[in-house]
Amino acid sequence: MANVKLMGGESIPMEMHKVRIVQKINLLPVEERLDCISKAGCNSFLLQNKDVFLDMLTDSGVNAMSDNQQASMLVADDSYAGSMTFTRLENKINEIFGTTYVLPAHQGRACENVIAETFVRQGDVVPMNYHFTTPKTHIVRNGGSVEELLIDEGTDVTSMHPFKGNMDLAKLQDSLERNKGHVPFIRMEAGTNLIGGQPFEFENARAVCKMAQEYGVLTVLDASLLQDNLYFMKVREKACEKLSVRDICYQLGQMFDVVYFSGRKLGFARGGAICTKSTALYDKMKNFVPVFEGFLTYGGMSVREMEAMAVGLEETMDMDVISQGPQFIQYMTDKLVEAGIPVVLPAGGLGCHLDASRFVEHIPQAEYRAGALSVAMYIASGIRGMERGTISEERNPDGTDHYAAVELLRLAVPRRVYTLSHINYAIDRIKWLYENRKLIGGLEFVEEPAVMRFFIGRLKPTSDWMEKLAAKFRHDFGDSL
Ligand SMILES: Cc1ncc(COP(=O)(O)O)c(C=O)c1O
Repeated sequence: MANVKLMGGESIPMEMHKVRIVQKINLLPVEERLDCISKAGCNSFLLQNKDVFLDMLTDSGVNAMSDNQQASMLVADDSYAGSMTFTRLENKINEIFGTTYVLPAHQGRACENVIAETFVRQGDVVPMNYHFTTPKTHIVRNGGSVEELLIDEGTDVTSMHPFKGNMDLAKLQDSLERNKGHVPFIRMEAGTNLIGGQPFEFENARAVCKMAQEYGVLTVLDASLLQDNLYFMKVREKACEKLSVRDICYQLGQMFDVVYFSGRKLGFARGGAICTKSTALYDKMKNFVPVFEGFLTYGGMSVREMEAMAVGLEETMDMDVISQGPQFIQYMTDKLVEAGIPVVLPAGGLGCHLDASRFVEHIPQAEYRAGALSVAMYIASGIRGMERGTISEERNPDGTDHYAAVELLRLAVPRRVYTLSHINYAIDRIKWLYENRKLIGGLEFVEEPAVMRFFIGRLKPTSDWMEKLAAKFRHDFGDSL
């Protein structure tokens, strides 16, 4: 997608597609929004979609499909075993990554389950650039632990390092020395989710894989957010300047022993897959697929989704397609920076990330400042974002909270779904919220699951701040929603 220059000199990100199917959305009055988020236990995951105006919770399974994807779904070959649909998907995955084998799974975390069951044993350590909730849970469930070896700039929300998802090679070497014999694989996550959708460098991945080879350790690429990472490699990295997106993707597939992805993100559909060049690794993993997922030619996915994913993966090789998300996020981030609002820099993929530690610094970390900001955002705008901070962490073994390195409110920008006027609305309401930030207060748990509490845990405000925020909104906006 081109950033198109207007007469006045300003550039705007231009959608390189037109909309041919629409879905109605509702914007409830602020009093009803207050009621909805209270009933949802102050957890944006527990809101009903009908009560949400812009759903910026995630980019998972909510990206818009193209006409060609929709068309492909009509010719899906519905069979339990030997489906031609699977062969088409398998061929496409093997083509873009240069692999030989594909294992299907119902989504990304199912791939993580298969990989952890196959390779992780009690006492193992998995070095990674940064953790994500679901792979960490599967590694820990199998008796392992994770070591995060991100470069120092990675969690510095103000650093302008263009590749904050890079692995620190000295830290990696130290980890491989210390944990010799107990490292089943190194995991690299593309478009590093929890630090603001930040990419790693092509050359960094190459160096990680080279070191892994020297130590005889496997490498696993989590390619769920590879679409954004490919875009950033192409526009920010000298080594990729002359390569096509297809070349970069193929070469990454050659570097890593195993690649997996959530098809809810990569490929604009819903599902997941693991691929590899190695017969031995394929043979080790494949037996878990019929146990957990389904037969080897569908792995829990519907054939329609598999067809759409095959087409979506091909579309991912097109710079016009993959630049839409990052360029919208860049636009949103730039406007917020102009207004002095603290956001994660540089603009990454996946979404625009508000830095709750500076936005609502008056709220103690123990009162879940990023969660509180997500509640306030919904009250102020009907937009649901996702807390990516301490609520998204597991407690320490002694029961105390494990404070997150970064406290973020993620406002995901699902691909091809929203228009620039939606983004401008979000910017306006964030500005209002920033002006009124002192009204925002903390949260405390009332129901807290032991594992991945952010999904279904319930909280309540520590005071009547939610009512006060809604009243101020009504005062400032009058009759307007
Ligand atoms: C980087 C990354 N890995 C893995 C997953 C898990 O994928 P899924 O939600 O399809 O299980 C996600 C989902 O958000 C992700 O962002």
